[in-house]
Amino acid sequence: MSLQTDVLVIGAGAAGLMTAATAAARGRKVMVIDHAKQAGKKILISGGGRCNFTNLYVEPANYLCSNKHFVKSALAQYTQWDFIDMVMRHGIEYHERDHGQLFCNDSAKEIVAMLLKECDNGQVQIRLRTEIDSVSQSDGGFSVATSIGRIQAESLVVATGGLSMPKLGATPYGYKLAEQFGLKLKPTRAGLVPFTLQPQEKQHFEPLSGISLTTSIAANRGPSFTEQLLITHRGVSGPSVLQASNYRQPGEGVTIDLLPSVDVADALAEARQSNPKRQLQTWLSEHFPARLAEALIAYHGWQNQALGQLNKATLEAIPSAINAWQLKPAGDEGYRTAEVTLGGVDTDELSSKTMECKSVPGLYFVGEVMDVTGWLGGFNFQWAWASGFVAGQNA
Ligand code: FDA
Repeated sequence: MSLQTDVLVIGAGAAGLMTAATAAARGRKVMVIDHAKQAGKKILISGGGRCNFTNLYVEPANYLCSNKHFVKSALAQYTQWDFIDMVMRHGIEYHERDHGQLFCNDSAKEIVAMLLKECDNGQVQIRLRTEIDSVSQSDGGFSVATSIGRIQAESLVVATGGLSMPKLGATPYGYKLAEQFGLKLKPTRAGLVPFTLQPQEKQHFEPLSGISLTTSIAANRGPSFTEQLLITHRGVSGPSVLQASNYRQPGEGVTIDLLPSVDVADALAEARQSNPKRQLQTWLSEHFPARLAEALIAYHGWQNQALGQLNKATLEAIPSAINAWQLKPAGDEGYRTAEVTLGGVDTDELSSKTMECKSVPGLYFVGEVMDVTGWLGGFNFQWAWASGFVAGQNA
């Protein structure tokens, strides 16, 4: 059996559905294939089931990409306001959380239903549980051998996502296809991912699992993120850690300010003057949960003495240990829990205006499969919508 379509999209995730709906709205005949049983699985579990679908403050600086200018055109062609418009047209209620993050009031299911409705309006055919055997170029288009038969398409859009959460159907297929067409890849690694701890830190902090606090974290070459850090039984997680993980290279450390709103050197000097008999642990407990204060003393090997009696070495060590803790994680939790994949199809291979391959006319890459990764906060979905939209306008 041979099926004909104008546009074939591989991957019924965020970027694939957006591409399909946009191309179909232009009158193109569109088919989407996916090996999963369900469309938009990552959308469904995102944002704790409420989908952080975009951010009010989207800027190119919120993205990591080897070419920092690459994201500008698509983000300008399809902005957060365009997506918010669509959400409002579909009557989906939403709310804003910290840092401009927008979430559904009710459920992420509404976002998937909206995208499926948009696809349905354009009579997009979505074929799930479909495996791909091979892709080749033929007659000025593409011929894709699949478990539902051979599909002939003028344009082929690869929207297979990254490697995170293999349990949800993530595969390296998009990268393999890129290589088949001779495209360069940027090395991939897990992003927006919790850190695991070395034994010496784990021993002290694992028993504190569940404690969270506001911290500022910076990796060597990255910005500083002031958000919550959560101690877990495997290491450290929470928004500040996930954000920093995008910028930390394997083997490197991060700098953590455990008390970003307090200059610890000044506060300690002031406390030593006003109350020199106060014990170090009592003073630390004014700033941290008591169990964490105790663990910090044990971890750093400080004496729990009256503040007035602390020796010079301890007095010098405390401010930097708290305001600029140099933590070298053992590693990260990897793709099992990572929200995204850094690296992927080299953007030098693609037009930033359309996402079409420069060397293979008719072949497009959209969403996370390419070397574009957003910060935590709705930026990754905004990239899926924007890159999907521009490809859909051109495929
Ligand atoms: P996506 O992964 O959505 O879709 C890829 C599709 O391709 C899947 O349907 C898959 O089955 C299919 N596929 C893969 N290989 C295939 C093959 N060989 N054959 C056929 N089909 C194949 N972002 C954000 O902005 N806000 C948020 O709240 C969250 N929350 C979040 C939570 C969790 C737990 C995760 C893991 C991720 C997030 N993200 C997020 C990130 C966001 O989900 C991600 O960036 C987008 O889903 C990427 O969209 P894509 O369409 O590129 O890939």
